[in-house]
Amino acid sequence: MKRIGMLTSGGDCQALNAAMRGVAKALFNSGEKVEIYGFQDGYQGLIYGRFKLLTYADFTGILTKGGTFLGTSRTPFKTIQVPGEDGVDKVAAMKQTYYKLQLDCLVILGGNGTHKTANLLRTEGLNVITLPKTIDNDLWGTDMTFGFQSAVNVATEAIDCIHTTAASHGRIFVVEVMGHKVGWLTLNAGIAGGADIILIPEIPYDIDKLAKKIKERHDGGSRFTILAVAEGAISKKDAELSKKEYKKKLSKRTQPSVSYEIAEELGKRCGLEVRVTVPGHTQRGGSPCPYDRVFASRLGSEAGKLILKNEYGFMVGYKNREIVKVPLEEVAGKLKMVDPDSSIVKEAKLLGISFGN
Ligand code: F6P
Repeated sequence: MKRIGMLTSGGDCQALNAAMRGVAKALFNSGEKVEIYGFQDGYQGLIYGRFKLLTYADFTGILTKGGTFLGTSRTPFKTIQVPGEDGVDKVAAMKQTYYKLQLDCLVILGGNGTHKTANLLRTEGLNVITLPKTIDNDLWGTDMTFGFQSAVNVATEAIDCIHTTAASHGRIFVVEVMGHKVGWLTLNAGIAGGADIILIPEIPYDIDKLAKKIKERHDGGSRFTILAVAEGAISKKDAELSKKEYKKKLSKRTQPSVSYEIAEELGKRCGLEVRVTVPGHTQRGGSPCPYDRVFASRLGSEAGKLILKNEYGFMVGYKNREIVKVPLEEVAGKLKMVDPDSSIVKEAKLLGISFGN
């Protein structure tokens, strides 16, 4: 008999349901008696004991559905050990729920913050298996996270649509892609969508270099320019500030985001019409693409296999085209950033894409 708790935490993404279905099917089909408890809205459900016993039927018909049928929420790691306004000791409460239900293991689907808490629960003695979700693809220890490829599709489609209108009007367009800390999504959607300029947090830009690139394009006969800009893109000047100074500067920002600042500056420098498009949360929404359906199903079923073997304390990830188990302590608290000297960045540059550096 296996008793499993399952939760999805942090920002949602496509293929969360596919991954949970993968775990459940592998367990239910094993022949072993299994009970799966689904916690509502991530760690909140575990803290406050909001759960439901799930049946096989709960996991059917959800492969293609975006979002998470369990609901999710952000429970920041930095506050997990601090009692809330209601005085609840969150870690103790999560342990209590776990022991009360006599769980053998928690299956936790999430990104960076989620993994820090999952690892904390592991050190507190709970059995934990995690699955890597995020459209940012920034989790350490795995080459790929589910949600990423679907988000690349959405962001690419946005850039594709902008292409036709930008060409008609001869405008500069800034398309803002999600990713505050890392640029994988912007880099991939930018290349896929044929962006002329890609700005990511890992490669600070020089606004004058961007203006020069646009002028060169226009002098060469191109009527429009498309920039794929990550939410966390940063100028060279700002990158020289300390974290504290930069935070202070951001708190005084008058524009909604970096894309609008860039648009304003380019408008002044290039004398052309500039527009900003923000696909925003559409990048996390909708049905998972086939890659993510397959990938999340594989990760889920491998997680089921580990549970059946009583192997805990791992994230099920993907390395060198193989599904692997990565110790949670190696994953928690680390980000997988884009290396500015990586081959993908160099290849993008060979295609004529500017990073503004
Ligand atoms: O971590 C995933 C992510 O979609 C980021 O790319 C984005 O910056 C952030 O979440 C948005 O968070 P929220 O949904 O809380 O606004």
